[in-house]
Amino acid sequence: MTTVDAVLEPFVLSKERLQEIKKRLLSEMEDGLAREGATIRMLPTYVHDLPDGTEKGKFLALDLGGSNFRVLLISLDGRSYTQTDEPKFEPLSDDVKATTQEALFDHIAECLQKFVDANGITEKLPLGFTFSFPVLQTGLTKGTLIKWTKGFRAVGAEKHDIIELLRAALKRRQGIEVDVVALVNDTTGTMMSNALQDADCHVGLILGTGTNACYMERLDAVKKWSEPRKPGVEHIAINTEWGAFGDNGTLDDVFTEFDNYLDQNVSINKGDQKFEKTISGMYLGELVRVICLRLHSLGLLFKDQADIPKFQTAWEFLSKYLSDIETGDVDESLPATRAILSDMGVASASDDDCRAVRRVCEAVSTRAAHLAAAGVSTIVEKIDKTRKCSVAVDGSLYKKHPKFAARMDAGLDMLLPAGHGVKMQEATDGSGRGAALVAAVACRLTATASA
Ligand code: BGC
Repeated sequence: MTTVDAVLEPFVLSKERLQEIKKRLLSEMEDGLAREGATIRMLPTYVHDLPDGTEKGKFLALDLGGSNFRVLLISLDGRSYTQTDEPKFEPLSDDVKATTQEALFDHIAECLQKFVDANGITEKLPLGFTFSFPVLQTGLTKGTLIKWTKGFRAVGAEKHDIIELLRAALKRRQGIEVDVVALVNDTTGTMMSNALQDADCHVGLILGTGTNACYMERLDAVKKWSEPRKPGVEHIAINTEWGAFGDNGTLDDVFTEFDNYLDQNVSINKGDQKFEKTISGMYLGELVRVICLRLHSLGLLFKDQADIPKFQTAWEFLSKYLSDIETGDVDESLPATRAILSDMGVASASDDDCRAVRRVCEAVSTRAAHLAAAGVSTIVEKIDKTRKCSVAVDGSLYKKHPKFAARMDAGLDMLLPAGHGVKMQEATDGSGRGAALVAAVACRLTATASA
């Protein structure tokens, strides 16, 4: 007879397997640097410079990503900054995420208008737009959305220029005067934000609703870069879009039957973002749910309950429960697991049930942390920064899960040379301040070019 441990066994990735995964990731990253259309897209961001601390002025930042939608007013003065983020806006509803691009961008323009009015802004301010999806950029303010991720599917946006869609919506709503100067991925914003204080920050990482990483690469290494090289410009931030790792089959031996089930039967983007689906907050709860369903059908869980309707309903087991369980189970009676199981309609959970569900949560989040560590260690080795590098990290999974950071550190220690100097640093509002910084650097460079 099988056991809970046997079902969870494929989630345990040994050091050797993780090293093998790193090799494949590196080779896919090299492919992405060499050509358009590779699985890991390795998108040039047109951000060539980290901030140098001289950035000044007032900027608006729009932040459209996974769970949050925000507008911010940011004043930069060298290394210090202040920010206003009132009024706050509701997270986007599933309806808005799934409407048309016009409705989505009209909603964004409306929020921007409310923000500008509420803060009495009368001057035309530069705006940085953090748009946390894969965008093929051809300039700092030009880029087409390749594909929606993370539950978005607003029709008419894919393959279109995002800045044009935003500008068109601003035009429809006459009266908002802003100057859109930069389109920024959240990973780049995160890296920029930390780089302002920390010269060793070369990598930006998001572990939230979705996952992705960016880093500073030598332009020489970006084989597909065909634009004229400007003197003195030697680096570029590359948005890896590592969430798509495995979409071409390279991780088929790593993905479990549960990953495949989630990808094919639950997610709205079948076959896409398969690495993301093993790591990010949007999916971890779902993984736990489908594993528990299997354990139930094997007679290993909730033996006293034939029907577990909530467990049979997609998205009912929230990813937040993984954090709640590992935070709240303060003693052997596992009170947090018990409370969540009761919310999930399992009235008669036994001690064994609680222990098993907790083990499932640990297995899923530990694998996620180890895969994220495999990703980060591949990048820092690629840019030869194992001796000293800080990785700016943002996102609810990293910040709210009580053990994710420690598990990731353990993963990095396992995968990098002894005594490595790679440090994870939580970001200070990457998407907001980062967008303002990219906007500021853009304004500085425009001013220098026209001087
Ligand atoms: C998107 C990335 C983004 C990441 C984190 C992914 O789904 O494709 O562009 O950086 O989520 O928000």
